[in-house]
Amino acid sequence: MKLLYYVFFFVIFGSRYFFVICQNVPSPRYQQTSTLVGTRLYFFGGVSIIPSNEVWYLDLSSSLNISTPPWHSDVVMPVGYNFGTSCLSPIDNSTVFLIGGRTWMATSATTADYSYTSSVYKFDSKTSQWAAPAINNFNSSFTSRNLIKAVIDNNGKIFIFGGTNFINSIKTPIYNFYNDMNTLDITTMTWSTQTQPQSVLDYFAYTATLLSSGLIVYIGGHSGLNASASYNRMAQIQAFDTKFYTWSTKPTSGSTIVPRRHHSAVLTQSGNIIIYGGEALDSSGNVTYLFSDIAVLNTNSWVWSVPGISGTSAPPLTQHSAALYKNYMILAFGMTSASNLYTNKIYILDIQNYTWVTTINKPTTTNPDNSSTDQANNNSSNLYIGIGIGMGIVILAVVLFVIGYFIYKNRHKQEIIATPGTYNI
Ligand SMILES: *[C@@H]1O[C@H](CO)[C@@H](O)[C@H](O)[C@H]1NC(C)=O
Ligand SMILES: *[C@@H]1O[C@H](CO)[C@@H](O)[C@H](O)[C@H]1NC(C)=O
Ligand SMILES: *[C@@H]1O[C@H](CO)[C@@H](O)[C@H](O)[C@H]1NC(C)=O
Repeated sequence: MKLLYYVFFFVIFGSRYFFVICQNVPSPRYQQTSTLVGTRLYFFGGVSIIPSNEVWYLDLSSSLNISTPPWHSDVVMPVGYNFGTSCLSPIDNSTVFLIGGRTWMATSATTADYSYTSSVYKFDSKTSQWAAPAINNFNSSFTSRNLIKAVIDNNGKIFIFGGTNFINSIKTPIYNFYNDMNTLDITTMTWSTQTQPQSVLDYFAYTATLLSSGLIVYIGGHSGLNASASYNRMAQIQAFDTKFYTWSTKPTSGSTIVPRRHHSAVLTQSGNIIIYGGEALDSSGNVTYLFSDIAVLNTNSWVWSVPGISGTSAPPLTQHSAALYKNYMILAFGMTSASNLYTNKIYILDIQNYTWVTTINKPTTTNPDNSSTDQANNNSSNLYIGIGIGMGIVILAVVLFVIGYFIYKNRHKQEIIATPGTYNI
């Protein structure tokens, strides 16, 4: 009888574990922020019915197939979070700073109420710990700033331009748009605000890309809401020099790119900024059009181009996120239609030949010098793997036989022991 209990425990525990694994996929969402830490692509918050405090990451260290992405959940944020921005510390390559954004406290499973908590959160990706760090000289006008994108330079200085303190028409009936440049030095946790000349417009919902020259390139976004919305021109790119704290306008040539907001952007090694998707509004402020185009800005020549694309295209996406991992632009989540449908899917563009792909293969070490020794090692390790698999199959067969036998013999007893939903054979 004891054996019977062991088998039942195995079946119940095993099936519950299986159930949990199957559930380990984030729900559809948009407005999240995302940061690549080594081989983990993290996603923070986003709106999934209500603003989410969830943290998910994709493990990119092994092969990936977009139909079963390698999702893992991490320790939740202290607050629900959307329309914020995040960046990785270049000092330890493991601490992520979340700046601004809308922060929410859940009041029930289906509602959340906005509550200003902190303008900066810190996530230690090694220990999965959250903290709201103390900041010197914080500028209170930055409180609840959102619809922004931060960049961080190699010395650990974060730059955040503009944004708005608009949350919704009830929470902030009176709101502002900003054109200031805020910086946070993470080595001293010191804040600083530079007010900008009037000629620098107060854009939000843009993308910000830091070039190796120290120039931050701001693409897209707009100023004002609804009928007064004025889009940032794609033919006149605003750029901020982080060395001299000066703005300049870069006239572009080449393809005509339609102005937009809430698109995504990544920087390639060769200095190309690749943008994807985004949205356009009608005069009453409703999203009317979602983009599904790819455009490339060469930041050496300031020429826009539209590459020929092959493979199965991603759908239109807006309020999504994008990251560059090796030669792959990985798009995740976001709205897929103007009627607020949102997704939990990921899409991958191979930027070497602008091909949509469905898999990333685990990198293989190709070293002709010692490939023969690799081969020898592989052969011996293959032998052990073979023995391991063989023994595994034998054990599994015995276990299945025993389980099968007792199921057959004890049909009635099983129904009592196994609770609904956990029993799965
Ligand atoms: C990715 O997974 C799907 C579903 O399991 C499968 O049909 C497809 O063949 C896989 N793709 C590759 C390249 O392995
Ligand atoms: C694109 O390049 C990858 C290698 O980076 C290659 O495997 C793939 O076949 C190429 N696709 C096309 C359509 O050329
Ligand atoms: C052999 O390959 C390893 C990586 O697998 C590398 O570290 C080592 O330098 C290579 N040896 C030679 C002689 O190329």
